[in-house]
Amino acid sequence: MEKKNSFYITTAIHYANAGPHLGHAYEGLLADIVARYKREKGMPTFFLTGTDEHGDKILRSAKKVDMGPQAFVDMNAQKFKDLYEAMSLSNDEFIRTSDQKKHWPGAIALWNTIKETGDIYKGVYKGLYCVGCEAFKTEKDLVDGKCPDHKIAPEEIEEENYFFKLSKYADEIIKLIESDTIRILPEARKNEMLALVKEGIEDISFSRPERDIPWGIPVPGEPGQNMYVWCDALFNYISALGYGTEHDENFKKFWPADVHIVGKDILRFHAIFWPAMLLSAKLPLPKNIWVHGMITSDGQKMSKSIGNVVDPMEYIRDYGPDAFRYFLAREIPPFEDGDFSEEKFVTAYNANLANGLGNLVSRTIKMTQTYFGGTIKKKEEYVDVPLLIRRDLFKGTEYLQGYSIPYTIEWAILPEYQEKMEAFEVQQAADVIWKFIGLLDGYITKHEPFKLIKEDREKTENILWNILYGLYFVGVMVVPFMPDTAKKIWTAIGVDNMDEKYGTPLSFQTQQIDEALFARIELKKIEEPQPVPQPDSQPTEEGQV
Ligand code: MSP
Repeated sequence: MEKKNSFYITTAIHYANAGPHLGHAYEGLLADIVARYKREKGMPTFFLTGTDEHGDKILRSAKKVDMGPQAFVDMNAQKFKDLYEAMSLSNDEFIRTSDQKKHWPGAIALWNTIKETGDIYKGVYKGLYCVGCEAFKTEKDLVDGKCPDHKIAPEEIEEENYFFKLSKYADEIIKLIESDTIRILPEARKNEMLALVKEGIEDISFSRPERDIPWGIPVPGEPGQNMYVWCDALFNYISALGYGTEHDENFKKFWPADVHIVGKDILRFHAIFWPAMLLSAKLPLPKNIWVHGMITSDGQKMSKSIGNVVDPMEYIRDYGPDAFRYFLAREIPPFEDGDFSEEKFVTAYNANLANGLGNLVSRTIKMTQTYFGGTIKKKEEYVDVPLLIRRDLFKGTEYLQGYSIPYTIEWAILPEYQEKMEAFEVQQAADVIWKFIGLLDGYITKHEPFKLIKEDREKTENILWNILYGLYFVGVMVVPFMPDTAKKIWTAIGVDNMDEKYGTPLSFQTQQIDEALFARIELKKIEEPQPVPQPDSQPTEEGQV
């Protein structure tokens, strides 16, 4: 297969049986960060998300509120769209499995292709089914007779189904996972999947009787059967690209997926079922499956009865999309479980956004405005103001001590940042940005431009030029994480003139900022408010700027 010059990233499609929660927001954010990073690098990128709208779970939820299934999923899908817009997700498509125009043609085409291979046959399924997972279960999947994820006993069902010959592909799937042809991240999840397939896998149901589940895509040529909701749902990854239709340009351009992002609870569907379906249809396989952990709230699983469900919209409304994005990206590890609490949010916000980034931008702008009317030009001898880098701070920086800020960015900061981003280590990539922000703060403390201005105007301008140059690249690295903030930084530093050859800023005309980038916030919900950490002591002279 020819190497395609494009990038395709997906989230799971989220059940439209209710509105979105923090886990959905997190998954969308991870995909958005990587998609924005790739686009910045000039890579044609397609980012897909959407909603999973068929099946028994949806049908039952709709009945509970006395609504028809279509009206019910329309209502919930809109809530997902609203959230994703509010958090500035840059998805290129929002696929809905009840969309008969966008999703059904591709789903039907793929079903037919798999059928032509001879991998779909009729049989009778007798066994257990968990509606929460929308999945068939065996005794070994249960703990004390209950589904461990939904804490309910599965229902016994007996019905005529179409089956898919999953077992036929077991050996090939093992080889593909072992060889990292399909790379499962992190490694521990890869081993889990290998163990699961090696235990032996059986064929799976691919359809359900319409009389029991009258809400799904009809099996082509077989009235009375609807596609099993997981088969319908997995098809979204190619139906959204126009597979099997006249308009399959995106499919040709973007498939196979570079990354499917999923939670650990649904990994087996993506690492085993989906590749087997693609093998059967002789289609290329996804390259990476990125398995993130679960977000807990105050150390516990989010649950309405405990009352610890975090409403993402509330945070976005109160603190803005960028602060919300920052917290999830920087404070939750991308490959493990992580915890969300208001206290952690407020502490991280004040320390790293209000103090760290926000304060650095505003103090720099103030100095440039007061001393130079905002105009800062590049000086030839900027390498004479060395940036001291602690030896242990960045890998391989021992030789960088005493170099300029531009040199440090080019040789230490950007390479490390890019390495992390390419490995989907978004949290660590954000760490690199904030280490750099710390270095710029240290640079101000060391050179004291607020004192130096009285003795050496030329050198002070030189120092401020270096800081502005550093802030320009803070903006570059921040784009995928906090797109609005990146724009605000660039507006404030006012790049006046770019070096066309290197694409780096030469001179600046800074703009006074009326409001702080991030105003400090206080805990709202904790009964006895904790004192919020105070900013590090600032040199007094600067206060007089
Ligand atoms: N509809 C299926 C996926 C079909 S993909 C072809 C589904 N939907 S879901 O709404 O239940 O979950 C969607 C995604 O959100 C999954 O990847 C799941 O792991 C993730 N999360 C659900 N709860 C979560 C947390 N508390 N934390 C992080 N992610 C979580 O499964």
